[in-house]
Amino acid sequence: MKKKVVLLGAGGKMGCRVTANLKDEHDLDISYVEISEAGRERLKNTFGIEATGSYEPIKSAEAVIFAVPDKLIKDISKQVVPLMKKGATVIGLDPAANYGKVMMIRDDLKYFVVHPCHPSLFPFEDNLSLEAQNDWFGGIGAAKMDLVCAIQQGTDEDYAEYEAFARKMFKPIDKTFRVTIDQMIMLEPALVESITAPLVKGIRMAVDACVEKGVPRDAVMSFVMGHLKVQFGVLFDFAGFPFSDGANLALKNAMDVIFKPNWIENIMNRKAIDDSVYDITHETSK
Ligand SMILES: NC(=O)c1ccc[n+]([C@@H]2O[C@H](COP(=O)([O-])OP(=O)(O)OC[C@H]3O[C@@H](n4cnc5c(N)ncnc54)[C@H](O)[C@@H]3O)[C@@H](O)[C@H]2O)c1
Repeated sequence: MKKKVVLLGAGGKMGCRVTANLKDEHDLDISYVEISEAGRERLKNTFGIEATGSYEPIKSAEAVIFAVPDKLIKDISKQVVPLMKKGATVIGLDPAANYGKVMMIRDDLKYFVVHPCHPSLFPFEDNLSLEAQNDWFGGIGAAKMDLVCAIQQGTDEDYAEYEAFARKMFKPIDKTFRVTIDQMIMLEPALVESITAPLVKGIRMAVDACVEKGVPRDAVMSFVMGHLKVQFGVLFDFAGFPFSDGANLALKNAMDVIFKPNWIENIMNRKAIDDSVYDITHETSK
């Protein structure tokens, strides 16, 4: 028997990525639920799929994938979760709604969350195609990526079932990592949205400043991209050799100029994470 699945928000960014990967899976009976006309058009034009705006398919689904905006999950889950049949599974694509307790929880349902790690900056693979090198997000068949998965409510068997399902949703997958919702929230938003994204933006701003000060952009880009490779290699212990003494001294002197004391703890503490999750899951005026 085919597994009945509802993809909620099928016409959105994640909905379309998941649709592309699941639509030809023969053991699945998928209902594509999309509230917007534009999203339904996108599904029709891209995949030839007719989506519905009705929640009717939710009543018989074994799994409902929440590919809807985090800010709407509070309201949407209040409408959708009560319709689900006992024992069915809610699949989230981000831990914020579960961590922030805006996802409606029923004791007789299972809750699974999966988030893509995206193709690595350093795939260390022989003969990686140009297509794979240009696959930034992953899940389109070009580059492999890893997943982090958490089961908030359910057994180890349920976890195994939905980890295998998640592998199909985002194929091709290399490794999966089982984490808790609390651990996943440390990864995102804390680590990658609140720390690494601003650090990379800082690099971009410094590159632009260098160009404004008269260094040709091509030279700046070549210099910075090459040096970043060495720096990642050294600082993440891939390279197996250290920086020069001069480079170490410049690094040490600049750390205190650039970073505030306790900058990591200022982001990775419970209150800051709770505030960040609140912003992600609520309509705020910020
Ligand atoms: N975009 C990303 O790069 C990315 C990456 C990883 C995880 N996620 C997670 O995926 C989820 C979806 O994000 P997204 O970026 O795809 O959002 P999106 O805004 O691109 O798409 C959401 C879709 O949901 C539809 N929708 C809204 N309300 C609906 C309802 N009541 N019923 C049915 N459809 C409804 C919208 O019309 C839209 O098509 C979020 O939890 C997000 O955190 C997103």
